[in-house]
Amino acid sequence: MNLIEWIELPNLGDHRGSLVVAEANRNVPFSIQRLYYIFGAQPDVPRGFHAHKDLQQIAFCIQGSCKMLMDNGKEKLEVLIGQSNKGLFIPPMVWHEMHDFSKDCILLVLASDYYDESDYIRNYDQFLKELHKTCTQ
Ligand code: TYD
Repeated sequence: MNLIEWIELPNLGDHRGSLVVAEANRNVPFSIQRLYYIFGAQPDVPRGFHAHKDLQQIAFCIQGSCKMLMDNGKEKLEVLIGQSNKGLFIPPMVWHEMHDFSKDCILLVLASDYYDESDYIRNYDQFLKELHKTCTQ
């Protein structure tokens, strides 16, 4: 799988404005158990710095933009998230960091499971170790 996968949601908007639809197991490739959103983030204060063991997520900037660094241990790529119907798929075991939030940024995240701190890997060396374990199993 490519490190960068975009999920594009249909915009059913018309002259009255935009209307974007996400449907679990249809245009979103998992059952959505949770959504959260981040706003008022400081442009110069990055966030994230973790990977998840099992969680799948899709991140949309429904307003404004931010950058996301994606790292699967082999490849690191940075992308701009800035189109309200185009979300970045964050699969399990991808280290990710968000930064350069625009002042008006609203980052909406769809997640495949409930919040579970034990699913987080917050230490980069631990992340590399876990990846290595998975590769050698
Ligand atoms: P965290 O995922 O570390 O934020 P970021 O990746 O944006 O830096 O979450 C920040 C805090 O909020 C942390 O204490 C965990 C808590 N949290 C929840 O309780 N539920 C949630 O759904 C999320 C995403 C975070």
